[in-house]
Amino acid sequence: MPLIPDIKLLLGAVVLLVVVRVLFTRRPPHPLPPGPKPAPLIGNLHQLPKSLQWFQLYHWSKKYGPIMHLSMGGQPLIILSTHQAAHDLLNKRSARYSDRPRMVMSGELVTRGMHMLLRQYDERYRLHQRMEAPLLNLRSASSYRPLQDMESRQLLFDVLAEYDEVGAKGVDFHHHFERAMASFIYTVNYGYRLRTGYEKELMDGKRVQAEFARTGQVGAYLVDSFPSLNYLPRFLAPWKKEADELYELECRLHLGNLDKGLTNPGWNFSKHMKQSPEGRDMPKVELAFDLGILADAGLDTSTVALDWFIVAWITTGSSWVPKAQKLLEEVVGRDRLPTFEDRPKLAYIDAIVCETLRWRPVVVGGVPHFIKVQDSYMGYHIPANSIVLANAFAITRDESVFGPDVDDFMPERWMVDEKDVKAEPTIDACGLNVSALKDLPQTGFGFGRRICTGRIIARNQLFIQMARMLWAFDVEPGINEATGQRPKITAEITPANCTEGFVTLPKPFKVEMRPRGQWVRDVILRSGTTHGIDHAEVLNQAAKDRERA
Ligand code: HEM
Repeated sequence: MPLIPDIKLLLGAVVLLVVVRVLFTRRPPHPLPPGPKPAPLIGNLHQLPKSLQWFQLYHWSKKYGPIMHLSMGGQPLIILSTHQAAHDLLNKRSARYSDRPRMVMSGELVTRGMHMLLRQYDERYRLHQRMEAPLLNLRSASSYRPLQDMESRQLLFDVLAEYDEVGAKGVDFHHHFERAMASFIYTVNYGYRLRTGYEKELMDGKRVQAEFARTGQVGAYLVDSFPSLNYLPRFLAPWKKEADELYELECRLHLGNLDKGLTNPGWNFSKHMKQSPEGRDMPKVELAFDLGILADAGLDTSTVALDWFIVAWITTGSSWVPKAQKLLEEVVGRDRLPTFEDRPKLAYIDAIVCETLRWRPVVVGGVPHFIKVQDSYMGYHIPANSIVLANAFAITRDESVFGPDVDDFMPERWMVDEKDVKAEPTIDACGLNVSALKDLPQTGFGFGRRICTGRIIARNQLFIQMARMLWAFDVEPGINEATGQRPKITAEITPANCTEGFVTLPKPFKVEMRPRGQWVRDVILRSGTTHGIDHAEVLNQAAKDRERA
């Protein structure tokens, strides 16, 4: 066969195809949102830095505005950088914006479609939501406060014990926060506490989380950008073996914990979910993953918020810590610890909680949503199958919502003006003084139908912990043994100061947590260790309070 006519034929066909496409493809009625100029094929992939990508997105948003478009090798990525834009799309149009992008490695291979955070917004997701939500709502959260009280008392006791050993060298505050936060969630989930924070279950849980952050990272696996690669046979797809091993690790951990939960004394989430209409006939592994993801979600996030609280305290505390401590002195005094009963009078502490979550949002880059159909907003076209990301860092710096000086730590921005304070305050079921705080958005917990379901539990936990630490201690960076100096802690956002991952936390350092007086020592020692408490009894009481509420 002669070659020339074939080439002519081919060229003719290509030209025809192009003409047909140009004539018959319906152009979107609107342009794409602005954004940095993409390169052919790779789009904007090469422009994103390796670390702190959310920080680059924040800087771009200043140039390109509230809605931005990037191409990740052809995959449209829409970035929302103001609260209004995130609210308009993710809250108001949540029926369309509540899916998640397909994540082959972390979502399909490692967790086999059972990771609650990564589930598509479908009937199965809604079934899981129906099972979990009643355990995490305001009324239920209020009944778990005695357990949070218990863990935060233990935290003070442990910190004081370590301070007495190490003095000005400083305590490993991150470890104490992590033990307390994890122990709370393991108690409600599985009916057992974590005494040291070095238990095997927790170590495995931390490994699972680190692997989740690693395998879910943009660009970590080629198969996430080109899902059809997953059809390759195993010997050409080495990630499959790795995923199987991680799945086995996660299964062992979650199933083992579920078994403990079902047999440990007292009420807990494992028993409750297993008996629920949704969980009764659910495969055991699917139920175990639900509980495991709740444990993961509750472990890292609140700990990170407390870490940033310490950074805020050290770097900016002179303007707000004395005010908080004066209030605690007035409301609580020196003979006892602050409690949840004091909360209605401690709205300023809740303002500190809100400001911590705003100043350094825990999931700082946001969790991606996904839209399967095309849409338009502010005169721009949003293509079907776009990843839509609310950039938490940019949104928490939205001056039209949070007022001026958004980089400063100012709990006052959350407080209702004196003149507007109501004579009869509205107090919610968890004791939060709703009418003393401005109704500003808690954007750090996400948006729409995928908003964090654990947010009330988290806020309760942060309130009691922050109130008690402010009441008990003065803090300073611990003295470095090698230099004999206290290191300078800054709040700057640089790769040298922050770690990378699903959550961003300050790089480790130690803090001298000095009791504010003999009275602190007396109260903490009188309150004592909590390990003698029958926590199964406390869980049973929580279950009764839930039922009554
Ligand atoms: C300070 C603490 C916390 C922060 C900042 C936080 C933040 C978030 C964020 C940003 C999301 C994604 C929202 C979105 O997609 O728009 C999320 C989802 C979630 N969080 Fe939290 N969270 C915290 C604590 C907790 C706790 C204590 C629990 C459980 C007891 C929890 C359970 C969940 C679950 C199950 C989801 C998945 C929701 C879904 O995809 O439908 N979180 N969280």
